[in-house]
Amino acid sequence: MERIIIFDTTLRDGEQAPGASLTAEQKLEVAFQLERLGADVIEAGFPIASPGDFNAVDSVARNVKKCIVCGLARCVKADIEAVYKSLRKAKNPRIHVFLATSKIHLQYKFKKAEEEILDLGRYALRLARNYFEDIEFSPEDATRTEKNFLFRVVEMAIDEGAKTINIPDTVGYSYPQEISSLISSIAGNVPNINKAVISIHCHDDLGLSSANSLSAILGGARQVHCTVNGIGERAGNASLEEIVMALRTRKDAFGQFYNNINTKELCRTSKMVSTLTGFVVPPNKAIVGDNAFRHESGIHQDAVLKKRTTYEIIDPKDVGMGKSELVLGKHSGRHALIARLKNLGLKLDDKKTDLIFKRFKELADKKKEIFDEDLIALVEEETKEKKQGYELLSIAVFTGTDVKPQATVKIKYKKKIHEAASSGDGPVDACYKAIDKITKTKTKLITYSLEAITKGRDAQGLARVEIKVKGKFIYGKGASTDILEASAKAYLDALNRLG
Ligand code: KIV
Ligand code: ZN
Repeated sequence: MERIIIFDTTLRDGEQAPGASLTAEQKLEVAFQLERLGADVIEAGFPIASPGDFNAVDSVARNVKKCIVCGLARCVKADIEAVYKSLRKAKNPRIHVFLATSKIHLQYKFKKAEEEILDLGRYALRLARNYFEDIEFSPEDATRTEKNFLFRVVEMAIDEGAKTINIPDTVGYSYPQEISSLISSIAGNVPNINKAVISIHCHDDLGLSSANSLSAILGGARQVHCTVNGIGERAGNASLEEIVMALRTRKDAFGQFYNNINTKELCRTSKMVSTLTGFVVPPNKAIVGDNAFRHESGIHQDAVLKKRTTYEIIDPKDVGMGKSELVLGKHSGRHALIARLKNLGLKLDDKKTDLIFKRFKELADKKKEIFDEDLIALVEEETKEKKQGYELLSIAVFTGTDVKPQATVKIKYKKKIHEAASSGDGPVDACYKAIDKITKTKTKLITYSLEAITKGRDAQGLARVEIKVKGKFIYGKGASTDILEASAKAYLDALNRLG
């Protein structure tokens, strides 16, 4: 049997999805869950990108012990040094160096000739070698790179110490037959290729990322880059759960491969990533969508009752989709809550658990059943409130079909309580105008959305906003059973991220 290395880039390429940004604390929560899931490599971030990302990589490196922890770098000295510093405490550190190689990138992005690109790669890898034994190299936009040049770049990277050669389909341009033949041509034309593992990194611009990744494995790739729920730049990356379940389900095609993923953790991981990023999983999403194992038509239902496998190729229990045995509601006690939090991979100290228990009881008074997503949102809210500058204390809104909406908000900021009222074009606009009076920040609301976190009329609403302040675009999110409260929290979250 041959091993397929699962390289998870949810915290790097996944987090590059506009609006998906995570705090260092949230990244660590996801990293712990990825460790439980059995990912081999966690790409924790791009340390040079921001101090926040540097801290996130550093924190994952210090705390995650089983997985290889990886940081991304361009072929730039400062990038490589930032990865080194952020991974100093990692048990198994890896640097991922990338360099664009396609004609279009050379001409417009770099304005460099092929030989200059080879020199730049050589320079960066030599530098990386001073700090790292485990080096991964990506010729960015590989699928649109002229083949002979790609072979030369790959050969150079292996000569300079890269142990993994990752082939990115950066713009999701390739298709399955093409990508498997590209991988096998690399295996056949790069003389030193047996000193490296070939990896694949696919994007979903044409909806082919999972198919392309599987095809690359058939062509000879033994590491696959993927993200939970397929989140990532633009249309996203290849989805971890789809690749893993395809490998497992189609033993006839992929029987010679194995990987370390505990598939029973897939749904839990998906929920956590969805709640923390605010990226709702579509109901029809393969493997982890709410409808993935639901049967509506009578013919299907009848057949499934007779034999489940008539219309189900995967047992929902195998991906952790089984119903929770414990229903959490207002009668549930502290032990049940702690057990569920533990089950969700949420490690809280006693003080935080007390707070969450109090908030849980308040929520249970408003909502019949508390779902996992509610708990994750609650924990997130609680962690955020402790750190944030502006804290929403209360909100009162008067609105109706024939009246101009009026909102009064009370906010705590730097230990002082501020109150303001405003009218607006709608109740949300009135809230935001009242908040603006307190914060005295000039903002422009770019996008606003509201989704239900769970099912049912009493579901919590998750509001997401994108605001523009002083030329900067900032995202925020907030959850509550009251949608106006959720909206106000999202707005304040964005303002707090402004720093
Ligand atoms: O899509 C891409 O090319 C990337 C590289 C940094 C590997 O994400
Ligand atoms: Zn990518």
